[in-house]
Amino acid sequence: METVLSGIRSTGNLHLGNYFGAVKNFVKMQHEYNCYFFIADLHSLTTHPKPDNLHDNIKKVLSEYIACGIDPEVATIYIQSDVPEISELYLLLNMNTYIGELERTTTFKEKIRKQPENVNAGLLTYPVLMCADIIIHNADKVPVGKDQEQNLEMARKFAKRFNHMYGVEYFTLPEPFNFGSDLVKVPGLDGTGKMGKSDDNGIYLIDEPGVIKKKVMRAVTDSGPTTPNSEMPEPIQNLFYLMDLMSEKDTIEHFKAAYNDCSIRYGDLKKQLAEDTIRFTTPFREKILDIYNDSDYLAKVVKRGAEQARESASKTLREVREILGYKPF
Ligand code: ADP
Ligand code: TRP
Repeated sequence: METVLSGIRSTGNLHLGNYFGAVKNFVKMQHEYNCYFFIADLHSLTTHPKPDNLHDNIKKVLSEYIACGIDPEVATIYIQSDVPEISELYLLLNMNTYIGELERTTTFKEKIRKQPENVNAGLLTYPVLMCADIIIHNADKVPVGKDQEQNLEMARKFAKRFNHMYGVEYFTLPEPFNFGSDLVKVPGLDGTGKMGKSDDNGIYLIDEPGVIKKKVMRAVTDSGPTTPNSEMPEPIQNLFYLMDLMSEKDTIEHFKAAYNDCSIRYGDLKKQLAEDTIRFTTPFREKILDIYNDSDYLAKVVKRGAEQARESASKTLREVREILGYKPF
């Protein structure tokens, strides 16, 4: 059976981009594949979270995953820092990774732009840790959003290089995965680009209805179409993209027709989008809160997940050490 793996950083709550880009696919796959899902709390250190918040952030993201339908009875759910084998594999992989190729990564360049005051080595080697995450379980498929495409390419490159350097066919080359379709990129509410935690342009599954309404009503638009059937500018396309995810077909058709004959009122469109989004997120919010408050249950999930993940990870690490030439005295 093929192995599927995905992860998410514990730097904030889950937004619609995370859900439609990664989590939803994973939920669909968990019954057909051998599945691992983890919380990348080591990756989250690249942005220097406060020790006071670290644990609670992990707990929140964990509750959100489970509330989205990832079933700890079916998939292995674990916390990255509970599996020290990942950190060791990361160290070993770093020795065969070149500074130049890491410096050229788009995500690294973007991070330098976003946090110029904190360009740490963890940011540079982020793709190496991500590769270790994936190949420690020899994953075949990795459900992620479009923004992770390059990191996946790097993971394949490092796995291939390992096989080549040591003359083995040991690591599987992992593929990004979205059921044969293109990877997803959910837009934000600020007119351009993707929905993301660091851009503060997202709708979170945990958001209260009032918050969602405010965010959607404030989304960027323009003064409206003046010629029939004109091309939509990006901010409007983005609102329709979200509507495609949240609303009924008839509703979408209604607003598209109104756009095309220039009778559209963006206030109405946003009101509808807010309403449909609240209908979509409310059951998630309720579940998240229930799970978050059940500390005993979460402790059990994490303990079992760590045991299962370590079983697979320690086997890989033992074999990798052998391949590298480490021998017992
Ligand atoms: P963020 O970009 O909000 O910080 P993460 O980097 O933690 O989120 O991403 C976790 C997962 O969610 C990844 O698989 C990523 O590709 C996916 N993802 C994040 N934002 C989007 C988006 N706007 N559209 C599609 N997928 C996304
Ligand atoms: N880099 C991913 C993100 O920001 C999170 C992540 C870490 C991940 N390791 C992974 C995703 C391994 C998939 C597989 O979204």
